Amino acid sequence: MKEPFSLVVSDDIIIALRTEDEAEATFNLIENNRAYLQEWLPWVPHVQSINDCLHFIRQNIRDWEDGADLTAGMYYKGRLVGIIGFHGLLKPHKYCSIGYWLDEASQGHGIVTKCTTALTRYAFDVHKMNRVVILAGVNNSKSRAIPERIGFKFEGVMRGAQYLYGKYIDVAMYARLKDDL
Ligand SMILES: CC(C)(COP(=O)(O)OP(=O)(O)OC[C@H]1O[C@@H](n2cnc3c(N)ncnc32)[C@H](O)[C@@H]1OP(=O)(O)O)[C@@H](O)C(=O)NCCC(=O)NCCS
Repeated sequence: MKEPFSLVVSDDIIIALRTEDEAEATFNLIENNRAYLQEWLPWVPHVQSINDCLHFIRQNIRDWEDGADLTAGMYYKGRLVGIIGFHGLLKPHKYCSIGYWLDEASQGHGIVTKCTTALTRYAFDVHKMNRVVILAGVNNSKSRAIPERIGFKFEGVMRGAQYLYGKYIDVAMYARLKDDL
């Protein structure tokens, strides 16, 4: 069996694949942040129980073992505070995207910026990616600030690219290539 994913980001921050016994902590985190997360994430209303989180964690473990997508917890001072991951690791074009969400009360410490920097480096160094993409709703300024802060290039707006609670929103695309300075 493959070693569970784990990446030390700093003295206070670790990214790690969640285990099944973290289903309740994951559910509580979503439950405490429902209204705030729902503004930008379409899946939030579909998470209604600890069991829903358990199924998702099991899927994340299978995906990791298959070498496909990575969806992992962000831990700040030992506490689960959000989720971050890659999608598209198996693509032949060596292209993946990074997505994230964070507990509202844990914002403002640079946790996601640091985790995204570390995962981008990991994508280039370990998975030999050529291109890492970050997508964010055009009006999601806090999310857009992350790729902007770490030197991703703004490549443009994909019009109507995300369906969010009854309407299509425009999405900003940022990318970094392995050869970018
Ligand atoms: C988008 C989201 C992850 C951003 O969270 P965040 O806390 O602003 O991001 P970070 O953890 O990187 O922290 C950055 C903040 O910490 C500050 N900061 C403090 N120390 C820092 C450091 N060492 N490095 C970087 N930033 C630091 C930054 O100035 C910034 O604060 P500001 O917004 O007041 O300028 C969060 O708002 C969220 O989960 N929103 C809901 C879901 C969502 O929109 N997900 C993204 C979908 S595309």
